[in-house]
Amino acid sequence: MRMKMRNRQRKPSASCWNGGGRCSLPVIIWGLVGCIIVIHLCSLVRYKDTGAAHVGFGRRTVFRELEEVEEESFQIPPPRGKRSPRAVKRRGPRKQPTAVDEFLDESSDLRPFFFPDRRSAIGPTKEGNDSMYFCPARIWLDTEGNPIQAHGGGILFDEKRETYYWYGENKDGETYHAHKQGAARVDVIGVSCYSSKDLWTWKYEGIALPGEETNVTHDLHRSNVLERPKVLYNDRTGQYIMWMHVDDVNYTKASVGVAVANSPTGPFEYLYSKRPHGFESRDMTVFKDDDGKAYLVYSSEDNSELHIGPLTDDYLDVTRFMRRILVGQHREAPALFKHESTYYMITSDCTGWAPNRALVHAAESIMGPWETMGTPCVGGNKIFRMTTFFSQGTFVLPLPGLPGSYIFMADRWNPSELRDSRYVWLPLTIGGVADEPLEYNFGFPLWSRVSIYWHRRWRLPEGWRTAYT
Ligand code: DGJ
Repeated sequence: MRMKMRNRQRKPSASCWNGGGRCSLPVIIWGLVGCIIVIHLCSLVRYKDTGAAHVGFGRRTVFRELEEVEEESFQIPPPRGKRSPRAVKRRGPRKQPTAVDEFLDESSDLRPFFFPDRRSAIGPTKEGNDSMYFCPARIWLDTEGNPIQAHGGGILFDEKRETYYWYGENKDGETYHAHKQGAARVDVIGVSCYSSKDLWTWKYEGIALPGEETNVTHDLHRSNVLERPKVLYNDRTGQYIMWMHVDDVNYTKASVGVAVANSPTGPFEYLYSKRPHGFESRDMTVFKDDDGKAYLVYSSEDNSELHIGPLTDDYLDVTRFMRRILVGQHREAPALFKHESTYYMITSDCTGWAPNRALVHAAESIMGPWETMGTPCVGGNKIFRMTTFFSQGTFVLPLPGLPGSYIFMADRWNPSELRDSRYVWLPLTIGGVADEPLEYNFGFPLWSRVSIYWHRRWRLPEGWRTAYT
């Protein structure tokens, strides 16, 4: 036994001789591993001019905690009130309400789950440990302590002022139905503007574009519809241009409106409305590409398809070029963004104020063809994913410090009290393989998956502005 051990110790394969010194294989391996780790860490730590060390572990690490799947569960209460035997005979037993029925039912026991009350509001005027946390669907207060009124909105980052501006529908009026069959509505008040440096603390800058009180022939007369305002900055003219959906109470005008301002906070001067390219236009958005060219995307032909076309160089009109995309797919609420050289768009189904399933589409060229990739929603539970977390998208905000990371902005509409509609902001990332078969090109090109992660409460990672710049 002893002999065997001695022999083993001398085995050259288990140790090495180097210039008379002796080292063991594990020491070499651990030494190499250590070197690799040190080299890797050195390449990750970048020192900024400020002298502060920014750990650039890459977007995936910085955003990783936001890519964790957070489950959500809720119980749909049984149908209220039993039917009498006669009623059961005539109409059958009561059907189990769906989650969307419950969501739309003002008297549902689940109401506080979908629309938490003022006690759980977040915002800079509130004390507690929610500072800087986005809390989807909880009331969000501005710097004056008032609920933010910026629905169907979008965000512009103004480079000169290094400030974010959030524009959206001010719906702080009474909700009513103009006709029995008509959609719930609020009179046009105008487009609110809020400013922020950190995307969480929002200062109310006032109504950037007001509705019209007296002139009933004006597009923005309060009896009409003004939805989904979006603002672009034109580098050539130095102007801020707002595009919006303008309509009459029955949604038959189906037009875009254009307004212009010299400052991001307005006042915006309303210029005109039109049917772009001569077609109906309802839900819409605008998108400015890296080369400064801007595009309008709108739901058309009874919302059965989307149209896309470039704006003129001054962004004040459309050009004559237009492509029909997602034909026959019945999509609305388009929100467009770009990652590396791929264009992505998130759209909703067409179900009025009721929530439905979002889809992602991708394209190599902004003018198409566009290909549908499936739902981006991750986490919550199945019904959360099938209803876009009970909300409808409105904008996707890039986080330039973290390429491939975005904020998905959506509205949780409250059709019985539209002013109390909530904001659902969630982290959106691009990466991994798309999980639904592609319809076009036999599966090529292989777009990366777009994922929107459900979180009850989340915040942007430390250094999100500069982590990668
Ligand atoms: C769905 C649209 O996306 C909203 O902007 C709004 O127009 C509602 N329909 C009205 O029912």
